[in-house]
Amino acid sequence: MKEIFTGIFKEGSKLFTLNKTAGKRVYGEELIQRNNKEYREWVPTRSKLAAAVLNGIKKIPINSDSKILYLGAASGTTVSHISDICTKGIIYAVEFSPRVIKNLNNLSKNRENIIPILANARIIKEISLLTSNINLIYQDIAQKDQVEILIRNANAFLKKEAFALLSLKAKSISSTDKVSEIYKKETEKLKKEFEIIEQMELDPYEKDHLFLVLKKK
Ligand SMILES: C[S@@+](CC[C@H](N)C(=O)[O-])C[C@H]1O[C@@H](n2cnc3c(N)ncnc32)[C@H](O)[C@@H]1O
Repeated sequence: MKEIFTGIFKEGSKLFTLNKTAGKRVYGEELIQRNNKEYREWVPTRSKLAAAVLNGIKKIPINSDSKILYLGAASGTTVSHISDICTKGIIYAVEFSPRVIKNLNNLSKNRENIIPILANARIIKEISLLTSNINLIYQDIAQKDQVEILIRNANAFLKKEAFALLSLKAKSISSTDKVSEIYKKETEKLKKEFEIIEQMELDPYEKDHLFLVLKKK
């Protein structure tokens, strides 16, 4: 088991995080024991961050004490792995579906570094009342205005030179335009607010998704 980034491990072709709640699975993932520690497999078809790591991303700006604003948390699959990584940090996990957030609420009962927030990521006021000192935004929201949502949140929450990770879903922006044209247009918008540190497609794990590491200007 080799630690390839803070709290992210690789053995063979599989990724793992150290299970913060030993014995408990979150989404049916494999649990394995190594040197008296329990690791959870991080499945790249279930998490775009895992897909980006396996596709060779060079920078993951997440430390053990990161304070993360996570937009589009769903039931917490990726959030749970970030919760394994930032053991001394905090994840403000925003999700606007009352049905979906129920699983996230259950997950946070055993993981004290997850704060579920039922809110619309477009409405900064709903989020800002419940968060503080954020140093990274992670966004995975399949909406037409996903770039505008990120920019609005970054302007509200990120200091200059702080990072954002964005999973951009082309087909949510347009189901008819060429994917390469969508990427071009959306990255132009991003470049006004961020330096693009890295970008990569998530094939073969996710089709028509671009994953970006961004630094606030
Ligand atoms: C692709 S899923 C996220 C999967 C999750 N990031 C993971 O890896 O485990 C996108 C989620 O974003 C949520 N969402 C979409 N628009 C939103 C908005 N404006 N505010 C908050 N959540 C939103 C959806 O309800 C959905 O659960």
